[in-house]
Amino acid sequence: MHLTRRPLIAVSLSFSLAFTLPLAAFAASPQPAKGEHGMVVTGQHLASEVGVDVLKKGGNAVDAAVAVGYALAVVYPTAGNIGGGGFMTIRFKDGRSTFLDFRERAPLAATKTMYLDKDGKPVKGASLDGYLAVGVPGSVAGFEMAREKYGTQSRQDLMAPAIRFAKDGFVLEQGDAASFQGGAERLAKDPAAAAIFLKPDGKPYAMGERLIQPDLAASLSAVSEQGADAFYKGSIADAIVKASGAKGGILAKADFEQYAVRELKPVTCNYRGYEIVSSPPPSSGGVIICEILNVLEGYPLSYLGAGSAETVHVMVEAMRHAYVDRNSALGDPDFVDNPVSKLLDKNYAKDIRDKIDPFRAGVSQDLMPKGFGESKETTHYSIIDNDGNAVAVTYTLNGSFGAGVVADGTGILLNNEMDDFTQKPGVPNLYGLVQGEANAIQPRKTPLSSMSPTVVAKDGKPFMVIGSPGGSRIITITLEAIVNVVDHGMNIQEAIDAPRIHHQWLPDTVYIEPFGLSPDTERLLVGMGYHLDLSEATWGQAAGILVGGKSLAEIEKGGGARYNGSIDSRAASGEAIGY
Ligand code: GLY
Repeated sequence: MHLTRRPLIAVSLSFSLAFTLPLAAFAASPQPAKGEHGMVVTGQHLASEVGVDVLKKGGNAVDAAVAVGYALAVVYPTAGNIGGGGFMTIRFKDGRSTFLDFRERAPLAATKTMYLDKDGKPVKGASLDGYLAVGVPGSVAGFEMAREKYGTQSRQDLMAPAIRFAKDGFVLEQGDAASFQGGAERLAKDPAAAAIFLKPDGKPYAMGERLIQPDLAASLSAVSEQGADAFYKGSIADAIVKASGAKGGILAKADFEQYAVRELKPVTCNYRGYEIVSSPPPSSGGVIICEILNVLEGYPLSYLGAGSAETVHVMVEAMRHAYVDRNSALGDPDFVDNPVSKLLDKNYAKDIRDKIDPFRAGVSQDLMPKGFGESKETTHYSIIDNDGNAVAVTYTLNGSFGAGVVADGTGILLNNEMDDFTQKPGVPNLYGLVQGEANAIQPRKTPLSSMSPTVVAKDGKPFMVIGSPGGSRIITITLEAIVNVVDHGMNIQEAIDAPRIHHQWLPDTVYIEPFGLSPDTERLLVGMGYHLDLSEATWGQAAGILVGGKSLAEIEKGGGARYNGSIDSRAASGEAIGY
């Protein structure tokens, strides 16, 4: 038998001596979807179809993003939602960009110690399960603001597909059924959630069965007819507040009435000539992606090679330093002064590089700031239209199916986003993030997020639309997709599918996807002092679009498809559809 192997390359631990060839992705990936007029990439194929239909009928990328957001709330209930919140990054065809923050806010009655017992210890599950975990939802307000300000289509038209899927139902495919299977135990605890998502015999819906959600259809119809007020000022808010009061929550009508979307300036930075446009605080995503990229810019990643010990080393050290900043310094901009310019300064990146030992792993404990005391169920979609308007949306209920509760009669799953706050400095949250005072709970404050809906531009034109679910790993997933395209020459599908590594300062562990690195590389890293964890399953479901070709090589050669879309091969039910 003839085996074709990667060229054998001498691996040196010295940057100056290292020389490796750029490598293809570890495994063969399917070809990206192609389109000349538009592209929609989402985590659920029916939602992708909804988005493409909007584009075909003359809607722009924002219209499509709104319709997809409502559709995912029906056909992807593990993370798609109107009971949660998220972010939308828009880069307009003329090069302007903006950012809509429709993430959850803490209720007015929230307190810093609301999840601690009388001895100051976190109460297990209090920030994750049930009504006390629920932040004030922002999705409806966000979609309405996006549509009114930047869309062209009517609310009724954009919401019609979602209402139809809720009313008539949709047939579950294998990936849909698997997510219900995973959430069945939690959903069984709330009678209203169980009545929707479990069959009368208590079992989850299976592949080939139809899920019908009449209460959700009624709630969506109310929003369609009356606008966001139906959600924030009318019977939907009343029902949620009533259920919250009866079941240990603190949501009040005033929380809903006072909810407001924030329109913010995206974070931008330049990486090797590419302009990154991403999420500002209250997300840490854009700042931390840029901080890591600024550090990496000083290393010849394409020569060091994808997946080499040296590349992993510098990436992990950049991540380690950046996540200290994320976890200690960032928070809601209305409550804390975020040191964004310092963290994005190229000199700051150089200072970090100067601290990285080329031969040894760093030690997280040594970076502990003074006085420092996901499930990964989010969903991301990427859209671009015929005019070149690019929209990246990441939104979430936080954990899978959020807090696992539905207020009677609404059909709306509610989030458990309050867990993204610091419960107590030094105590890890759902994602193992150990955070500080900047992200402490306060009434009306928004918990720090990692969601990173990102658009990359080159020479004034859109180049890439990218993002992913993945809790605290969203940042490194998005970053690695960019680096894989820009530095390692992968096509958009390979860049998304390539095995991932992750480090978030604490715990001081490098997470590596199964078969992500060769055993030789693992041994080199262990020899440098790294603790590797290869035990976890794969993570993230990135959704990306590359403009002008499927890879940098094809773009440079010319003749590639205008839009090249890829949904992560890890995504069970997603699809990239171009036209
Ligand atoms: N709930 C996950 C995040 O916003 O980072």
